[in-house]
Amino acid sequence: MRKANLLIIDDEPAIGQGCAMICKDLGHNPSWCGTATDGRKRLQEGEYDLVLLDIRLPDYDGMELLNEIHQDFPELHVIMMTGFSTVQQTVKAMKKGAFDYLEKPFSTEELSQAVTKALKNVQLRHDNLHLRQQLFQRFEFNNIVGDSPAILPVFEAIKKVAPTDTTVLINGESGTGKELFAGALHARSGRAEKPFIAIDCSAFSTSLLESELFGHVKGAFTGADRDKQGIFEAANGSTLFLDEVANLDLNIQAKLLRVLEYGQYKPVGGRSIKKTDIRIIAASNQDLENKMLDGSFRPDLYYRLNVFPIDLPPLRQRKEDIPKLAYHFLKQFCKKNNKPLDGFSDGALETLINYPWPGNVRQLKNVVERLVIMVDEQLVDSSSLHGHLDARHHEAEDTMPATLAELKAYKQHLLDTQYNPVEKSLLQKALIASSGNISKAAKRVGMQRSNFSTLVKKHNISHS
Ligand SMILES: Nc1ncnc2c1ncn2[C@@H]1O[C@H](COP(=O)(O)OP(=O)(O)OP(=O)(O)O)[C@@H](O)[C@H]1O
Ligand SMILES: [Mg+2]
Repeated sequence: MRKANLLIIDDEPAIGQGCAMICKDLGHNPSWCGTATDGRKRLQEGEYDLVLLDIRLPDYDGMELLNEIHQDFPELHVIMMTGFSTVQQTVKAMKKGAFDYLEKPFSTEELSQAVTKALKNVQLRHDNLHLRQQLFQRFEFNNIVGDSPAILPVFEAIKKVAPTDTTVLINGESGTGKELFAGALHARSGRAEKPFIAIDCSAFSTSLLESELFGHVKGAFTGADRDKQGIFEAANGSTLFLDEVANLDLNIQAKLLRVLEYGQYKPVGGRSIKKTDIRIIAASNQDLENKMLDGSFRPDLYYRLNVFPIDLPPLRQRKEDIPKLAYHFLKQFCKKNNKPLDGFSDGALETLINYPWPGNVRQLKNVVERLVIMVDEQLVDSSSLHGHLDARHHEAEDTMPATLAELKAYKQHLLDTQYNPVEKSLLQKALIASSGNISKAAKRVGMQRSNFSTLVKKHNISHS
């Protein structure tokens, strides 16, 4: 996250300085003042991304100041800090447009979480607005979107390796863009004038693939009534993208190795050796090292292909790219379908960012295409996403436990990080909506009063 300017307005030096220190540790640029007068002055003079505002100030009512800030700087996020917090006050603050509130005394963790959440929202709004207004995107690489820290090294690697003749192996899950990046590599190479040939090794039977790649001579098999050129001859001088190399049969692997080592091969049924000059970019979404260990992939071919490996990270590891990709596809499909949508709501964009995208960029592209067809409003909002994202997918796959002890630890982790915050927020919301009345709040969520009350204590929620 980028360094943000924070203003802390609180008359207690321990709190003001403490918050400033924590925000600094988070990598931000905080400043602190103790009065509303001072706060107002600083807001007029500087540019702030977030304000932490005490509800009780010596010279002014914090709630009134919140009002003023809202009028003068409608985009500015404010987190209220409440000392003797009551639900009514909190309700009032939220109604007046505070982004969040913190009850004193709060822990470092609570402050860090609230600040990070607010700043993430500031960034999201800012990006969303910017992307909505942007008509065209500029690409350094033809039509490839992305500038996340995870994808930048891939661009760098492609720039470096493109002008050489080195064999490249692109690893990545399905839909991460292996073919797209391979095409970009070709386009930046000395072979760009020739067509880029892509072959999906899993789409052919072994004998058909062999004759596709190497050609055959007349009489090589039933039906071979004349000589046929293979890709290695027809596309001589160009780049060949071999998708799903893990599926190559051992016989073809041997022939491919020979092409890579000596630039030589024999057509099916032929005796004479032919020469070829083709650059190979191979791709796989399976673990080739495993295939090598179980004997279904030749180690010598693996090492020959793996001279320059490029790993394409899955989309869930480069969430920063999701807004740009989503807008890229939205604009593309709006144009294609002649449908002038304005963009995504902040909430919808946030949902897209948080989804784990098991089918990676291809899945995002397909979802956006469907949305453009389905949505009739100007904005794609959260409700339009229902039914387009499979709720079963969550991010547990990367942390799959292997023993009972790990499973229990995982359960506790989920409780702490996922369940408990939701439970607390449900209680708080119900209390706010029932003006702090426990009986009404319990009824509202369909819980026994005593159970509700126990949970309120467990989460240390103050009410009345
Ligand atoms: N960074 C990106 N910017 C724009 N479009 C992208 C990007 N990455 C992928 N795409 C698009 O997503 C779709 C899937 O990409 P691609 O076919 O290259 O993936 P793949 O890794 O080869 O998938 P598979 O393993 O299933 O063959 C394509 O339509 C491609 O244009
Ligand atoms: Mg592919």
